[in-house]
Amino acid sequence: MKNVGILISGRGSNMACLLDAMSSGRIRARCALVLSNRPDAQGLDLARGRGIRTAVVDHKASSSREEHDAKVVEALREAEVDVVCLAGYMRLLSPVFVRAFKDRILNIHPALLPAFPGLHVQQQALDAGVRFSGCTVHLVDEEVDHGPIVLQAVVPILPADSEESLSRRILSYEHRLYPLALELVCEGRVTVEGPRTRLDLTPERYRTILECLIWNGDTP
Ligand code: GAR
Repeated sequence: MKNVGILISGRGSNMACLLDAMSSGRIRARCALVLSNRPDAQGLDLARGRGIRTAVVDHKASSSREEHDAKVVEALREAEVDVVCLAGYMRLLSPVFVRAFKDRILNIHPALLPAFPGLHVQQQALDAGVRFSGCTVHLVDEEVDHGPIVLQAVVPILPADSEESLSRRILSYEHRLYPLALELVCEGRVTVEGPRTRLDLTPERYRTILECLIWNGDTP
């Protein structure tokens, strides 16, 4: 069974979905550590309330990104973490971190990468006038919001959308997408092949996954 480490900076709603999926047994893995770079991250209380071990590695206590990341890597290793999930962890990772967990760091991003990396990406999508956006779970490489894609969900943009309403709709898909992607990684069904991943799935299972990720007309 894999040990998962979850990194957060704030609310932790994606973290909560991953914890639910692990504690229900849907994902055969356990959360060994929730770590935040911000002592006041709301998600820390949520994790503590569920009896999960937590740690804070405040980035303000380090003088460089590398120094901070080395501390994070040490905490993850100490907790014997196999797979790292970035869940609203709003820090750029240095090569120190990426190399320490090569092809074992997942990130969720609220856009259809490679479109709209960076910040305020829901507003970027609205400004660009695209009709669909969505969310992506990918393995992290040394570029920002970049690396082999594991799964994506497509979310429509409706005429009356604001940044808030679109963010809410995308988030509701993030909550489905991330557990599905972590499940595949923990089952060893995701292989990195250069810039892409190959998913080792039957067509039936892949279809079931896609069905979970297709917009059903709800407008959360
Ligand atoms: C989520 O929308 C996640 O996709 C985004 O931060 C939010 C965290 O919410 N991450 C990024 O933009 C990373 N580039 P949460 O704390 O409630 O999970």
